[in-house]
Amino acid sequence: MSDKTVIAVIGCGRIAQGAHFPALSQIEGVYVKYACDLIPEKAEAMKEKYPSLVGEVITDYKIALADPEVAAVMVLTPNYAHYTVTMDALKAGKHVMCEKPVTTSYALSVEMANEAKRQNKILNIGVCNRYQSSVERLCEMNKNGEFGSIYHVHCSFRAFRSIPGLGGAFTTKAQSGGGVLIDWGIHFVDLILYVLGGAKIKTASATTYSEMAKDMKTYRYRGMWAEDTSDVEGGTNDVEDFVTAHVRTDKATISLSGAWAQNVERDELYIDFLGDKKGARLDYGGQFHLTSGEALETETSTHELENMYLKEDSAFLESIKTGIKNKNHVDNILESMKLLDALYLSAEKQEEVKL
Ligand SMILES: NC(=O)c1ccc[n+]([C@@H]2O[C@H](COP(=O)([O-])OP(=O)(O)OC[C@H]3O[C@@H](n4cnc5c(N)ncnc54)[C@H](O)[C@@H]3O)[C@@H](O)[C@H]2O)c1
Repeated sequence: MSDKTVIAVIGCGRIAQGAHFPALSQIEGVYVKYACDLIPEKAEAMKEKYPSLVGEVITDYKIALADPEVAAVMVLTPNYAHYTVTMDALKAGKHVMCEKPVTTSYALSVEMANEAKRQNKILNIGVCNRYQSSVERLCEMNKNGEFGSIYHVHCSFRAFRSIPGLGGAFTTKAQSGGGVLIDWGIHFVDLILYVLGGAKIKTASATTYSEMAKDMKTYRYRGMWAEDTSDVEGGTNDVEDFVTAHVRTDKATISLSGAWAQNVERDELYIDFLGDKKGARLDYGGQFHLTSGEALETETSTHELENMYLKEDSAFLESIKTGIKNKNHVDNILESMKLLDALYLSAEKQEEVKL
């Protein structure tokens, strides 16, 4: 295995099984020496499915951290464990690719970034949409001034029924850091700041609601991401399922609305970039529709939509070889975490927060 980069995958739940293991299985130069999950059956399922990719199944991630052959780990656990597992891994001298959000708060995210710097290790965050080719093109167009000046961005991430793992880690604030805003909003906020070429947050104002599963037992739905845990004794739902917000930055203003669930049977996931020359609607995870104010015409992009996770994981493995920080490096995601924190604070205080 000496020619391959040896890694461990910590957390073998939905995102590991549905995105990262399939991606890693397509990358020649990687060997997952350890697949780790507190529930061993989940890691075993990955070993069974990818026998030549996966070595051992473990339940204690510290076994992988103690192995000098392991160069890097992927942290694919619920949000609350990102901090502890990542800090332990960095201190053990491993590079880390940690799923989004960085962790449950901005302050802890900064600590993680500082530890990566101290240990001189790469710490990347799984904001996979930065690897979508349509997003790359929007970035380029903005850099080239094709939009003129982007003065406002609006995004909507609203779904009919999509509360994940009701009653479990996703809906327990102490474990997730929040609801739809930190879970989905991080992708949208991060994409906006990325396409704008970075922006400093000046003020943030938000209101959040938790309306759709006040009584978990009577929440009606058709499908659920993560464990369906609403019947588990003692399950918790103390996070928001809806958010509305307004943000001022040193570039554009931003408005957003997000719903994990709503009584409108339509999913709307998009970002509108309003420029004085051109504007674009980016369908989340897909194409964009570009409108010219001069020609009064709209064109839809025709990008080949690639596997973002494959690009993200390949870029991480490349980064640990070269030592060059790429666009998913934690340093590039901190402003998004700062904004989420400010929005939660604003919602709690019921007033605008100045940064
Ligand atoms: N990039 C994306 O688009 C995307 C999509 C979904 C989820 N995510 C993120 O991925 C993370 C995981 O989400 P998921 O949907 O896969 O959750 P999940 O609950 O399906 O899986 C998490 C797994 O981690 C395991 N785990 C928890 N603590 C552990 C520990 N200390 N050691 C080993 N294993 C541990 C759990 O047993 C579970 O199997 C979350 O942070 C989520 O925000 C990202």
